Amino acid sequence: MPHLSDRVQRTFQSPFRKFLPLAQQAKDRGIQVIHLNIGQPDFSMPKGAMDGIKASNDSYIPYGTAEGQTPLRQAWCRYYERFNIHLDYTELIITSGASEGIYFTLMGIADAGDEIIVPEPFYANYNGFSEMAGVTIVPLPSSIEDGFPIPDASAFEAAITPKTKGILISNPNNPSGKIYDEGTLRSLAALAVKHDIFLLVDEAYSEFVYENHRFFSALCIEGAEKHIVVIDSISKRFNACGTRVGALASRNTDLLQEIARYARLRLCPPMLGQAFALHALQLPGDYHEGVRQEFSKRRALVLDRLNDIPDALYHAPEGAFYLFVRLPIDDSDRFCAWLLTDFDHQGKTVMLSPGTGFYATPGMGKDEVRIAYILNSERLSEGMDCLEHALTVYPGATKLSQATLV
Ligand SMILES: Cc1ncc(COP(=O)(O)O)c(C=O)c1O
Repeated sequence: MPHLSDRVQRTFQSPFRKFLPLAQQAKDRGIQVIHLNIGQPDFSMPKGAMDGIKASNDSYIPYGTAEGQTPLRQAWCRYYERFNIHLDYTELIITSGASEGIYFTLMGIADAGDEIIVPEPFYANYNGFSEMAGVTIVPLPSSIEDGFPIPDASAFEAAITPKTKGILISNPNNPSGKIYDEGTLRSLAALAVKHDIFLLVDEAYSEFVYENHRFFSALCIEGAEKHIVVIDSISKRFNACGTRVGALASRNTDLLQEIARYARLRLCPPMLGQAFALHALQLPGDYHEGVRQEFSKRRALVLDRLNDIPDALYHAPEGAFYLFVRLPIDDSDRFCAWLLTDFDHQGKTVMLSPGTGFYATPGMGKDEVRIAYILNSERLSEGMDCLEHALTVYPGATKLSQATLV
């Protein structure tokens, strides 16, 4: 085979997907694989959500506008009004998922060799997008023993160098489930203004918040209009991950116009996905209330089951739909692969994401895994049965004797 680029061979492998070939081999051997590896819930979309696509009965699917269709941009802004966020449609462009929004933003604010500060653990694909953009992630560590506290503004400030172009956070955080409160977000925004860098907030899980926790959007912060960019998505909001529609929202329209250069290169975001999103964003009703209640049950179930696993160390998530757990294992990559290659419990096994991918600091996450509590209670229980049983027979099991946090 002709030579491939070093870049592609270096590129980070997503921890949620890299073991899919092993999962397929397990299925080929007749083993049921319970997928708790990826944030793809089993819920139905809101009733009537597909009507937008069904109504797209043109005889062809044309290219659209690079920045996204104007009615969708307007509808997204109207949707934000429900949360007291007031934006003009020129302050929001449509991307092919939040994924493209993250990549475009990094490409728009940083040159090769520049730095962005990201608290660990973070959404694993930030690693890959940073590599693609040639940007270095400067991680801010936080420990599972302390419950992954959100670093305060002084920790961020200490990491700023002349090469720093921005701070990137996901709020609620994937994978820790932590939520940045209004005060912390305001201090980060003030820091961004002080150092003239960007504050990038990935709000893909804004609707998934539990118990008495509250979500505060960075778009509600005044006085940092040029410095704040919010990354958003249709994927989780309507359980429509495959539509590939997201958004970049910022009052810095100069930045959006510059980023639109990349948008024009890929011509337009998916038109069918946009037809879906346009309709879904305008649906009335309380879809998310029901979804939150169901996720709360699933979250409680996993927390309860983890309680029974000796030496599991975890912290109850405040938002999103993941649990990041330390387990008594030697190596999370080896463990997650072994679950698929060498283990079954009554003909079933569970697929998890190894913790290492959620860090930039080498060696971190080696005894941590991410559990996505996205399946119904029955499947989730079966998945937890597999995990519990696996830990009793895994050859690399260790004993940590840590206290369990809830
Ligand atoms: C924090 C976060 N941001 C972005 C994405 C990607 O979203 P999209 O499907 O819109 O590309 C995900 C997907 O899991 C995510 O967890």
